[in-house]
Amino acid sequence: LIDIREIFQNPNPYFEQEVSIGGWVRSIRNSKTFGFIVINDGTFFEPIQVVYTNELDNFEEVEKLNVGAALVVTGVLVETPNAKQPFEIQASKVEVEGASTSDYPLQKKRHSFEYLRTISHLRPRTNTFEAVFRVRSVLSYAIHKFFQERDFVYVHTPIITGSDCEGAGEMFQVTTLDLNNVPQDEAGEIDYGQDFFGKPANLTVSGQLNGEAYAMAFKKIYTFGPTFRAENSNTTRHAAEFWMIEPEIAFADLYDDMILAEEMLKYIIRYVTEHAKEEIDFFDSFVDKGLKQRLRNVLENDFARITYTEAVEILAKQNDRFDYKVTWGCDLQTEHERYLTEEIFKRPVFVTDYPKEIKAFYMKMNEDGRTVAAVDCLVPGIGEIIGGSQREDNLDKLKQRMMELQMSEKDYEFYLDLRKYGSARHAGFGLGFERCLMYLTGMQNIRDVVPFPRTVKNCEL
Ligand code: 4AD
Ligand code: MG
Repeated sequence: LIDIREIFQNPNPYFEQEVSIGGWVRSIRNSKTFGFIVINDGTFFEPIQVVYTNELDNFEEVEKLNVGAALVVTGVLVETPNAKQPFEIQASKVEVEGASTSDYPLQKKRHSFEYLRTISHLRPRTNTFEAVFRVRSVLSYAIHKFFQERDFVYVHTPIITGSDCEGAGEMFQVTTLDLNNVPQDEAGEIDYGQDFFGKPANLTVSGQLNGEAYAMAFKKIYTFGPTFRAENSNTTRHAAEFWMIEPEIAFADLYDDMILAEEMLKYIIRYVTEHAKEEIDFFDSFVDKGLKQRLRNVLENDFARITYTEAVEILAKQNDRFDYKVTWGCDLQTEHERYLTEEIFKRPVFVTDYPKEIKAFYMKMNEDGRTVAAVDCLVPGIGEIIGGSQREDNLDKLKQRMMELQMSEKDYEFYLDLRKYGSARHAGFGLGFERCLMYLTGMQNIRDVVPFPRTVKNCEL
């Protein structure tokens, strides 16, 4: 069988030749003596048209086919200079690999994204989702390529962990204890001694802490894997299971971190627009008009940079327009982030030096004693896409901060060791993979860029 992609990319050798393709029926229409099947095999963005006549042995079977059926079609590829598509297949044989029924949920009409979410096992057979998930694949590759070309070591950090990297307590617990009969210790507390790991464990919210250990050995590393957050945020940008890319670089500070983040984003935008060209054209035409121009602008300009304090000055003047009023010390909400990047800067923005109270324990304290060397990258249409920081590399200062936050040193012994044995300046960031994909495709809801999304009250399929 030939991939439809191969025919589209270089049809010349196939003209007037017999080809066989396997794929699923997108649409079918027929008259008494002949008919057309539009068939797609998922290898290319475009489907291909097949013409058949009553000379087929199984004409009656083919006539009755429903949308969604799986077929192997054999026939001659002919040029059709006046038609919408430059060629079609004149079928000599149509083998029905698997028929479909008339209640097939995808018919030849526009289905809403909401509806398609209820059939996430079938939606990759539609143009939009075929494009989304091909770009998802190309984007993954682009990310690996970027880091591998720069000799970063790819580290597989654990999925099950005993720590809470972000300190936000938004973890899914992993346990083998029987919920109906939880063992208690003498003090009446849950006796985790009887649990599988002998202590509480959870799904990781970030691979960063383990990644730092490897950066202190390899100098530059990255992780790329699933992370989990039990945030009760039912928004279009939060998923309970999402993928994160977390590079970590040693002998580097916040500025090196921003340079890396900007280089990476530009690299992957360039790679994806070149290697998923048809898909990006599709998004530009049907999902988000102006997408391509916007991405081009990103490549041609430097990202803006401001401090949190400067951002608050800008935003507080506009408090009338916000639901959530801005004052120094507050966490920036999506409405503020989007205002900065869409109205003020009209391009990606790095916001640095946030108040320590709203950021994680591991961030390096600035000299002012009240802000930390944090950086968020905000982009139009989404808001925060990257969160990063320079890490606190001073053992005493880190211990001090952990004490303030009432964190147990015992639980983070390995992390403190990294400051004890050859501590070095280091920094890193986390790129939300799904948010990045939304940015590159113009898709508006995170549920539409994850194959089988997990969100609040939704863990179907
Ligand atoms: O800002 P966050 O929480 O940073 C960290 O986890 C750090 N440990 C990263 C690091 O410095 N190595 O998360 C990083 C990014 C966010 O900017 C966002 O893009 C994405 O992860 N993200 C989510 N994406 C989808 N659904 C969620 N619930 C997300 N939470 C964070
Ligand atoms: Mg963040």
